[in-house]
Amino acid sequence: MAKEKEAIENPNLKTSNNNNKMFIGIVWNCVPELKLLLSALLFFCSLITLFQFFPSHLSFSVQDLRHCAALPPPPSVKQPPEFEIEHLNVKKQDVVLQGGVIKRNFNAYGSAAYNFILMSAYRGGLDTFAVIGLSSKPLHVFAKPTYVCEWAPRNGTANVTVSGVKTLPDWGYGRVYTVVVVNCTFPSPVGHGGAGGTGGTLFVHASTSGSGDASFNLTDTIEALEEAPASLNPVLFTDQPKYDYLYCGSPLYGNLSPQRIREWIAYHVKMFGEKSHFVIHDAGGVHRDVMNVLRPYRFATKWMFFFDVDEFIFVPKKSTLKTVMDSLSEFTQFTIEQRTISNKLCYLDDHPGKIYRKWGIEKLVYRDIMKGIRRDRKYVVQPRNVFATGVHMSENILGKTTHKTEGKIMYYHYHGTISERREPCRQLVNTTEMKVGGTPYVVDKTMREAAGAVKRFEARMIGSALLNTRQ
Ligand SMILES: *[C@@H]1O[C@H](CO)[C@@H](O)[C@H](O)[C@H]1NC(C)=O
Ligand SMILES: *[C@@H]1O[C@H](CO)[C@@H](O)[C@H](O)[C@H]1NC(C)=O
Ligand SMILES: *[C@@H]1O[C@H](CO)[C@@H](O)[C@H](O)[C@H]1NC(C)=O
Ligand SMILES: *[C@@H]1O[C@H](CO)[C@@H](O)[C@H](O)[C@H]1NC(C)=O
Ligand SMILES: *[C@@H]1O[C@H](CO)[C@@H](O)[C@H](O)[C@H]1NC(C)=O
Repeated sequence: MAKEKEAIENPNLKTSNNNNKMFIGIVWNCVPELKLLLSALLFFCSLITLFQFFPSHLSFSVQDLRHCAALPPPPSVKQPPEFEIEHLNVKKQDVVLQGGVIKRNFNAYGSAAYNFILMSAYRGGLDTFAVIGLSSKPLHVFAKPTYVCEWAPRNGTANVTVSGVKTLPDWGYGRVYTVVVVNCTFPSPVGHGGAGGTGGTLFVHASTSGSGDASFNLTDTIEALEEAPASLNPVLFTDQPKYDYLYCGSPLYGNLSPQRIREWIAYHVKMFGEKSHFVIHDAGGVHRDVMNVLRPYRFATKWMFFFDVDEFIFVPKKSTLKTVMDSLSEFTQFTIEQRTISNKLCYLDDHPGKIYRKWGIEKLVYRDIMKGIRRDRKYVVQPRNVFATGVHMSENILGKTTHKTEGKIMYYHYHGTISERREPCRQLVNTTEMKVGGTPYVVDKTMREAAGAVKRFEARMIGSALLNTRQ
């Protein structure tokens, strides 16, 4: 139905009322599109979809369409002068082999997924860069795409090229696309020298190298990173890291609850301390109310944490985050066990009217203690020894990984409580044990007990700014 709507809204078709005009409209539309393989395919698909909705007197054949995609338009069709038709593809005919065997040839048009979608790129040293993106997964399954990195200096010296080395983290997750990290390491430093470097541009040439079709080797040139002169700070790569802890969050989208985000940020700012930094990726979820609870924390704040905003890191009272991290410093990476908290059951050990003024971590205290189920873990890395990371852990590191962190550090997971702006309590319970649909729960007041100190910390840090907001 969506396609139908698009079709109806296509201005080229709206004004067409006879067969001839319609054809011109399509050629006119289709020629520039052909320059982009994917756009062409999309266009092609929507046209095919369109057929179903054309009144019969407007029909034209699939043959006409193929002309549009593969051959110059028939000379009778007047063509806007600014477009030049290039010779794109020669239609392959079936061949009759000896003995009357017919060898069929299939004609391919367009491409169904992008060769490379650039997401970001950064310098990891004087001679090395990482370029992060998505790429068509079938391309990587059925072919061996290659990457060439090219550094173009600003100061007019010759370009330097080197083969890029690809890493495919999270390989098992994507279907249409897969994550690609291209490591560009030049034989010697580039763009350095002078005060803050000479500046330059890093290009990546991504070649399909004959994906399924050996005669077809498409190369796209990607401008991955532009470095302004005097912007390079080489000590960044050798000095002590600026932050002790960096939070790297997944994209925030949906109708996020400002109340839950406020608890989360107050709790973790207190835990991570001054030398920490939070990278929060707004994918549409950081609306005005959420921004209002995040903004007061924009103060100056070796490890990088990956977890979500419905998860709270916890270390038992006998330790601090620092003592735990120090005890794990021989590892490049460790993972953290999950404590799953019910997102519906609230503990009623107080006057019911007060429950709505409590923080989520104070009232949501029923922990799922079902045995024998695998729960997701979260992870922490020392990023200087990591070349690529994934959703659940990194498989491309220098050094060791440990999962033996039980009892040392854990995270409380309040699934589904942040993406809705409603009161989380669905059922008020006053027993310390509870079974819901076969899942046993027990009261775990760990986070509730931490809340008081977090509230005092918040008041100390940002004053009463959030005191009268809804909890
Ligand atoms: C690229 O790979 C080399 C060799 O493994 C490594 O030393 C370098 O740090 C990597 N670069 C980046 C930016 O990750
Ligand atoms: C350097 O590389 C870029 C990107 O491939 C290219 O556009 C430019 O012409 C090259 N410059 C020289 C001097 O070869
Ligand atoms: C350009 O910069 C490079 C360092 O990236 C340096 O080796 C080279 O001498 C510079 N060339 C000029 C003409 O300044
Ligand atoms: C495809 O083209 C690129 C860039 O010209 C080249 O490096 C690569 O080897 C080619 N692949 C094949 C299979 O010819
Ligand atoms: C717990 O709740 C039940 C009803 O929900 C009530 O009858 C009982 O008195 C409550 N017990 C305590 C200790 O508050």
